[in-house]
Amino acid sequence: MLSPAALPTPLVTLDVPALARVGVRLRLKRDDLAHPTVPGNKWRKLAPNLALAVEQGYTGLLTFGGAYSTHIRATAAAARELGLSSVGVIRGDELAPLPRNWSLRAAEAAGMELRFVSRGRYRELVRGTDRWSEQDGDGRLLVLPEGGSNALAVAGAAGIPAEIPELGERDVVCCPVGTGGTLAGIAGGLPAGARALGVAVLRGEGYLEREVAELHQAAYGRQFDNWRIHHGHHGGGYGRVPPELEAFAVEFERRHGIDPERRYVAKTLLAVHDLAAAGEFRPGTRVTVVVTGVPDP
Ligand SMILES: Cc1ncc(COP(=O)(O)O)c(C=O)c1O
Repeated sequence: MLSPAALPTPLVTLDVPALARVGVRLRLKRDDLAHPTVPGNKWRKLAPNLALAVEQGYTGLLTFGGAYSTHIRATAAAARELGLSSVGVIRGDELAPLPRNWSLRAAEAAGMELRFVSRGRYRELVRGTDRWSEQDGDGRLLVLPEGGSNALAVAGAAGIPAEIPELGERDVVCCPVGTGGTLAGIAGGLPAGARALGVAVLRGEGYLEREVAELHQAAYGRQFDNWRIHHGHHGGGYGRVPPELEAFAVEFERRHGIDPERRYVAKTLLAVHDLAAAGEFRPGTRVTVVVTGVPDP
């Protein structure tokens, strides 16, 4: 088994005068502290899939991601810990001959074999990969979709709200949205009355909602109406960190002593601050932001 995560992860309340003025309390669910090599939503989403891989005798994992994918690094680290092989299908065949960036270097150092494919081929491959297996030499690889978001991952992410006591009408649990698995799990795991808010980190209006709905269908066989996705804070697109986001993150660390991961967590925190300032939360709302990852090294 994968070494256990430190659960429940801490729940901390922040003192934010600007939010207090509009009647909003902000808490952080520190999933970034869950596990040293498979932190944040990665542990939540991978752990049930890894248990299945071991139980069903798979010899390795194959998954998909971009050049800086946290999911790729986390899958490589988890596979190594479990004695499984791992294959990463990487978007962009132009990267193959280039020196590896820090993220791909870390994946390779953990034993992952990287296969670079063109963007077109990548799009074809990632479609419809919600868990299938592939023969690879003498081994059998469990294939995980991009971002690791499948029905088991959704069940894993549902463990996040299950660790937050006394959720109810006044609560909004908030997370970044990349492939939608984390938001789908949080919404699926909320008690009646509480709501989930996802912050899109890429341009994906409509598309991301469909992904979450499909994940709900796959995981629960039904739809939920307790969530929505905010699309106003993707910062120009996936991986983009505009100067105002960087400035916000630096100030956030200065005030609260927590350095927020930029591409997902800082976008989410900035969105919550801006939405609160715009009066989007009723006075008395308690917003819990899930810290889904750690800053880049
Ligand atoms: C740190 C971090 N937070 C959030 C997400 C988005 O989660 P999901 O893909 O489940 O929407 C990712 C990527 O998967 C991530 O790396």
